[in-house]
Amino acid sequence: MGAGAIIVAAGSGERLGASLPKAMVRVAGRPLVAWCAIALSAARGVDALVIVSPPGEEKAIAAAIGDVVRVHAIVPGGATRQRSVAAGIAALPTDVDAILVHDAARPLVTPAMVECVLAELAVHDGAIAAAPVADTLKREGAGGMIAETIDRVGLWGAQTPQAFRAEVIRRMFAEADPIEMDTATDCAGMAERRGVRVALVNPQSPNPKVTVPADLALVEALLGGLRIA
Ligand code: C5P
Repeated sequence: MGAGAIIVAAGSGERLGASLPKAMVRVAGRPLVAWCAIALSAARGVDALVIVSPPGEEKAIAAAIGDVVRVHAIVPGGATRQRSVAAGIAALPTDVDAILVHDAARPLVTPAMVECVLAELAVHDGAIAAAPVADTLKREGAGGMIAETIDRVGLWGAQTPQAFRAEVIRRMFAEADPIEMDTATDCAGMAERRGVRVALVNPQSPNPKVTVPADLALVEALLGGLRIA
């Protein structure tokens, strides 16, 4: 079999200040999670799609996606992102060769991005979308003042999708202790800790994460120019 894809959509979206879960917030005429589901299911090599929902919101997530996309399962998420990823992995068919994880908060993902990340698994155990840091980086000191400038050479911002050979990511999650499941902020971090080599794949097109209200206007404008469905 090919790849199983997971969209983690169980976050509350507190920083967005929305009255509904972040994944259900509409941008450019569609909920964030629907943009992601359309792109992932259109990617070559993705055979099964699992959506991890805020617990109790599974029906609302199904309605948000509609019937344009075939979904293998919609399952309730956990208290942290990585616990939600674990719920998604458990719901995938057992015979997938690769597992790809994507945040519902990144609606500009494209089928090409997914395919580029998956293609790296021919040579590596893991690969993630990421972009070189463009801004000059400052560390904050006392009173909101700059303490120092950090050399940005070689620094990348990690994004999603993140893909791994299925046996590798299943082993990572089987080994993880509760502290790691509560504190890790992405799957690549768990891989690095175990010495799993993970390739950086520059998606070459904007792939921002919707976190605060100002991000919505940016993503709305960018999605207006994107035609994938
Ligand atoms: O909070 P943050 O923006 O880092 O979340 C990244 C992704 O993880 C989002 O798509 C969010 O819905 C998801 N998430 C989740 N379960 C949680 C927390 C976050 O599925 N408990």
